[in-house]
Amino acid sequence: MLIKIFTARNSNALKLPPGPKKLPLIGNLPQMRRPELPHHHMSGLAKTYGPIYHLRVGELTLVVLTTPDIAEEVLRTHEINFAQKPLSLSTETMMMDKNSSFMYAPYGEYWRQLRKVCVLELLSVKRVRSFQSIREDEMRNLVQFVRSSLGRPLNLTDEISSCLTAIISKAAFGESYKHQEEYLSALKEGIELASGFSIADFFPSIRILRYISGRKWSSVRQRCDKISSRILNDHKRRREVLSIQEVGSAKEDFVDVLPRIQESNELGFHLTDNDIKSVILEFFGGGTDTSSVTAEWAMSELLKNPQVMTKAQAEVREALKGKELAQDLDLQGLKYLKSVIKETLRLHPPTPLVPREATKACKIKGYDIPPKSRVLIHVGAIGKDPNYWKDPERFEPGRFLESSIDFIGMNYHFLPFGSGRRVCPGIAFAMANVELLLALLLYHFDWALPNGQTPEELDMTEDFKATVSRKRDLYVIATPHSLGHD
Ligand code: HEM
Repeated sequence: MLIKIFTARNSNALKLPPGPKKLPLIGNLPQMRRPELPHHHMSGLAKTYGPIYHLRVGELTLVVLTTPDIAEEVLRTHEINFAQKPLSLSTETMMMDKNSSFMYAPYGEYWRQLRKVCVLELLSVKRVRSFQSIREDEMRNLVQFVRSSLGRPLNLTDEISSCLTAIISKAAFGESYKHQEEYLSALKEGIELASGFSIADFFPSIRILRYISGRKWSSVRQRCDKISSRILNDHKRRREVLSIQEVGSAKEDFVDVLPRIQESNELGFHLTDNDIKSVILEFFGGGTDTSSVTAEWAMSELLKNPQVMTKAQAEVREALKGKELAQDLDLQGLKYLKSVIKETLRLHPPTPLVPREATKACKIKGYDIPPKSRVLIHVGAIGKDPNYWKDPERFEPGRFLESSIDFIGMNYHFLPFGSGRRVCPGIAFAMANVELLLALLLYHFDWALPNGQTPEELDMTEDFKATVSRKRDLYVIATPHSLGHD
């Protein structure tokens, strides 16, 4: 502990980025005292301290970056040095074992091999396409459910979330897996516990804090672990009775693919059962809420901006004229709808603070960044930087129509999926789900707010948990649109 305090004092010799005054021992902990919306709080601090600033919270150095040019310096110029994710205590406790994680694996051979499996096998365009029938079934159910609401107020937040979670869980576990509800409820609890900062993260050398905070997380982890072990073992047993042709076919779910790779030993190291369970857990953790809140914010913005809604509906209805529900829809031509999704991700990135860790000491914009500093790339503030975006607060999908700006991490003023080697590997999967869902909702229904609420009155207050969602669920009234045969 003394060593840590000494190091903290000594760090004054470095030229650190600016930041608020620090109290002895706790540093800027008062500034971190559970602000309800940390991303707004951090944008506010940038107004006082500039586009790169630092906070010292207990033993932790936190560096916040809020402009595209600084993000580029970190994510491109110093990419390898920042290719590491910081491990919070909650995440560490939720892991199956300390060495089993893809999302938090140190940048190195283990991560590289798992990343290859994710990109080439689990989340490839071919695999994402192979889940089309799952998407169609779930979305058909959603459309039928909305239709049966008969003009009554409908909780669209819940419906979007159930539909997208069902798709991801069927892609992971197979068509009808009996333990998925149990798994999802344990995972939801884990995600809620893991969101936000824990005091034990700020004082890692005080072991008792780790013990106290860790207890509640480890019980959730044990539940997830027990269920996923059961799921994995059932899949392994089923594999034993599958024919050779069926093994390795496009019909495999995620829990089929990973044991096949485990058996083949093609990675150069042994993939353990814990590795497999961690990948699945992280896909759920990283893929479910992010996709749901994107679709939910898109519908909210469309309701708030009726002219945009009309334009998006006109495009979708023209392109999908006379098509059956979700069958074989080609969404390639839906340029305006794609722009709506991009604009939604610009204004409402589900994870506005993307965390990375400095492996070694380096300089950014002339400031010293000590090793092990936690760096937060504020992609929320970056997406609203007035030097890069005209009328940044306005929802204006047209700005993406004639532009080549994409979200794959090459445009540093638009980073909803991060950038570089750690960029989100789930982009194709997320987009396939969100695009189809929005296309069908716009195609089949006209939308209004309940109780005579006007678009201006729609409350857009945010809530910050693991992702930034709406604080209040979105209620809507759906009216079937001429059964889609106009
Ligand atoms: C709209 C939906 C989504 C958004 C906005 C999103 C956003 C992100 C972001 C910002 C990162 C960090 C990137 C970085 O550090 O540069 C990330 C990483 C990750 N995402 Fe996503 N994500 C989405 C959907 C998904 C889906 C559907 C999956 C999988 C089923 C997924 C799996 C992952 C994984 C495994 C990582 C860690 C990658 C690594 O560390 O190498 N995400 N995502």
